[in-house]
Amino acid sequence: MRFQGKVAIVTGSGKGIGKSIVKKLSQEGALVTVTDMNKETCEETAKEVIQGGGKAIAIVGDISKAEDARSIVEKTIESYGRIDILVNNAGIIKDSRITEMEEDDWDKVVDVCLKGAFLCSKYTAPYMIEQNYGKIVNIASRSYLGNPGQANYSSAKAGIVGLTRSLSKELGKNYINVNAVAPGLTETDAIRNHPKYEKIKEIQKKDTPIPRIGLPEDVANAVLFFASDDSSYISGDILHVTGGRFG
Ligand SMILES: NC(=O)c1ccc[n+]([C@@H]2O[C@H](COP(=O)([O-])OP(=O)(O)OC[C@H]3O[C@@H](n4cnc5c(N)ncnc54)[C@H](O)[C@@H]3O)[C@@H](O)[C@H]2O)c1
Repeated sequence: MRFQGKVAIVTGSGKGIGKSIVKKLSQEGALVTVTDMNKETCEETAKEVIQGGGKAIAIVGDISKAEDARSIVEKTIESYGRIDILVNNAGIIKDSRITEMEEDDWDKVVDVCLKGAFLCSKYTAPYMIEQNYGKIVNIASRSYLGNPGQANYSSAKAGIVGLTRSLSKELGKNYINVNAVAPGLTETDAIRNHPKYEKIKEIQKKDTPIPRIGLPEDVANAVLFFASDDSSYISGDILHVTGGRFG
């Protein structure tokens, strides 16, 4: 029960990796804010946490919009009085080669994957500074190392690495740890719905030292390490959950 009495916000926790993170945090005692732009999955996840004996509130919002990000933070404070853990997890992909990539595909991916993490961190940080305690865990991706067909996503995730390192330097004096987890291919809807899913899966198995696809739980376990005091002297770091695959 590493998170007994701790308050955690997990963005994009209606499904996929975020849902796994929020459930594991709750199972170890955290009071959680489930937040997602999808109302149905957001409320369903919060219901499942409560049915499992945990405490959860559901807040629907689009983290790429400043007013929504601020409201997620303020409603969490109204409900629980503090924020100990922020997991910037929500993300989207809109893959295509650079010659076919629409400006809008660039803007949307960067707005959700990078600006959303900036906004949620910006509105949460004052409370963590006041507490002299906090954990910010950003979900990057192995793609930050570069991936063909993902110029928008790779750039946003490389931005997440920069954001993580900058915030770790700014907020360290307030005992706020800022780290990132960089998953490789992980079995969620985001990947299952990809038009080249089967091909991607085969390449993944062939190129990965541990020859399987990652599971949401693999990523959640790494996030919980950074969210806990087990990692209290680690900040600005990137933990790869890639089955040993780099590049
Ligand atoms: N699945 C993978 O292979 C993989 C690999 C590396 C990194 N990641 C990263 O992990 C994170 C989670 O990915 P996933 O595979 O679970 O995706 P997913 O599509 O299964 O879930 C993402 C959730 O985020 C929500 N969301 C999207 N845009 C939002 C917004 N603007 N505001 C609020 N919520 C929003 C969606 O509604 C959805 O519930 C993302 O940051 C993704 O980039 C995933």
